[in-house]
Amino acid sequence: MGLKVREMTPEDLEEVYRINRSSFTTDAWSREALEREFRLPHSHRFVVEREGKVIGYTFVWLIKEEAFIMTFAVAPEWRGKGVGRWFLKRVINFLKGKAKIVSLDVRKSNIPAIRLYRSMGFKVVKERPGFYSDGENALVMELKLCDASP
Ligand SMILES: CC(C)(COP(=O)(O)OP(=O)(O)OC[C@H]1O[C@@H](n2cnc3c(N)ncnc32)[C@H](O)[C@@H]1OP(=O)(O)O)[C@@H](O)C(=O)NCCC(=O)NCCS
Repeated sequence: MGLKVREMTPEDLEEVYRINRSSFTTDAWSREALEREFRLPHSHRFVVEREGKVIGYTFVWLIKEEAFIMTFAVAPEWRGKGVGRWFLKRVINFLKGKAKIVSLDVRKSNIPAIRLYRSMGFKVVKERPGFYSDGENALVMELKLCDASP
């Protein structure tokens, strides 16, 4: 597919912001929130690109031996082509040896994301009622890194 993962730079933020706005409605991060990530020592930021164009991104927090996927998205025009799975595998490989567990929150109605995470070995461990600003529940999903598929 000609994909490449690399660390995000501040120059990527314009495109990251665009993908973020087209991926999340009520939960889109502000530019300030995206910029703030670059100043957090526990924040790791990656983009996936194709032919030099950013088509997806993630922000991962690594605190001691726990990792949190704070946000993860593929540009709408690139979805359903295996980019998300390819990218998530690389992110998990980056975390192996650094974290014992990876967790994330996902909207209960977000079937594409839940299916992707399940297929990578994540399991639902709890539900947070009314977690999102519109009242939707979040599912908390976790992957123990020793259970991760290669
Ligand atoms: C979730 C997301 C990252 C998936 O990325 P993607 O590149 O489209 O995913 P892939 O093409 O690699 O598909 C991987 C798996 O995801 C699931 N999936 C992807 N799109 C799906 C859809 N429309 N319906 C159901 N399952 C879907 C499937 O399990 C798929 O595996 P399969 O093709 O073997 O069935 C993408 O839909 C996205 O950016 N959504 C908006 C942002 C978001 O919700 N992020 C997650 C927040 S926690």
